[in-house]
Amino acid sequence: MKFFIDTANLDQIREAQELGVLDGVTTNPSLMAKEGITGQNNILKHYVDICNIVDGDVSAEVIATDFDGIVKEGEALADLHPQIVVKVPMIKEGVKAIKYFSDHGIKTNCTLVFSSGQALLAAKAGATYMSPFIGRLDDISSDGLELIADIREIYDNYGFETQILAASVRHTMHVIECAHIGADVMTGPLSSITGLLKHPLTDIGLDKFLADYRKGNQ
Ligand code: G3P
Repeated sequence: MKFFIDTANLDQIREAQELGVLDGVTTNPSLMAKEGITGQNNILKHYVDICNIVDGDVSAEVIATDFDGIVKEGEALADLHPQIVVKVPMIKEGVKAIKYFSDHGIKTNCTLVFSSGQALLAAKAGATYMSPFIGRLDDISSDGLELIADIREIYDNYGFETQILAASVRHTMHVIECAHIGADVMTGPLSSITGLLKHPLTDIGLDKFLADYRKGNQ
């Protein structure tokens, strides 16, 4: 299972990278805005800065919503750095663009997926990654994890190579349940990764080991 971090915050990306378990980064226009990154040149530079911190794939989202615009923007993003994956929304023009990118060897991440039908279309178009937003489904009393399980079954039925990228992950149990189901990738905040470290018995056990060592080595 790959771990991506869902942020445009360079400090958090560095922290996850230093932990040694990071496989990539996802961003979106809201996350860029949250870090105060505005203006096309600054946004493009920020993507390159992220690529220079991590070793894996970095999703950069297009703003255009028409086929020609998505292709133009996506090609420019892909030219920025070999690690860039062009993030394209699950709309009709987006599906057409994903097929175009797939035919031209450009990696894609189909975003804003909320149903199995959309996931099937993304795979048929040849998306590299397909991102169901599980947290946002949970927010409206729909079961995000059930969607991941449905898509896993559908993709396995036909051997689709599109990777299921569980997105809008909010906490550690989302990560663990996605691992049970067999999501290929999860992307979430830094806390969803570092939270996996935590267990009170680890802390109590370590305190006792160190106290016993100190007693014997005074
Ligand atoms: O990767 C998708 C993600 O950015 C959405 O997360 O927490 O805004 O639903 P959230």
